[in-house]
Amino acid sequence: MERTLSIIKPDATARNITGLINSMIEAAGLRIIAQRRIFLTQQQAEEFYAEHKDKSFFSGMIQQMISGPVVVQVLEGEDAIATYRKIMGSTNPAVAEEGTIRKTYALSIGQNSVHGSDSPEAARREISFFFNHTEIVG
Ligand code: CMP
Repeated sequence: MERTLSIIKPDATARNITGLINSMIEAAGLRIIAQRRIFLTQQQAEEFYAEHKDKSFFSGMIQQMISGPVVVQVLEGEDAIATYRKIMGSTNPAVAEEGTIRKTYALSIGQNSVHGSDSPEAARREISFFFNHTEIVG
């Protein structure tokens, strides 16, 4: 069993498709074991995405992430990190595989509907960024 952090981004909450996305997550065998709908502050978004701070798209991405509510959630399942990344599809929806969340719902590389941790280290850091152990109910 493994855990990963999922974020449903503002472009998706704005279109009222959090349930549709979570249906795809659950259909893949992942369990949502913690969940909260929040507005990220600019400081939180910058800290969360600190590894990208030198990228050209950083400030646009931060503005995007604070433009509306997000749903942060912990997913649990077998190979949860890889399983979730597979069903999310490529970062750029234009090249994402058919049937993936991003191919189905994302609007662009910047408005790509979902985030998922990319390694066990990232998952640990990202889960503890938003949740303490009493809020994670496996
Ligand atoms: P995410 O998985 O949340 O991790 C970093 C985010 O940066 C990524 O999804 C995209 O939304 C965003 N991103 C990556 N590359 C670009 C780009 N070239 N232009 C705009 N946003 C990008």
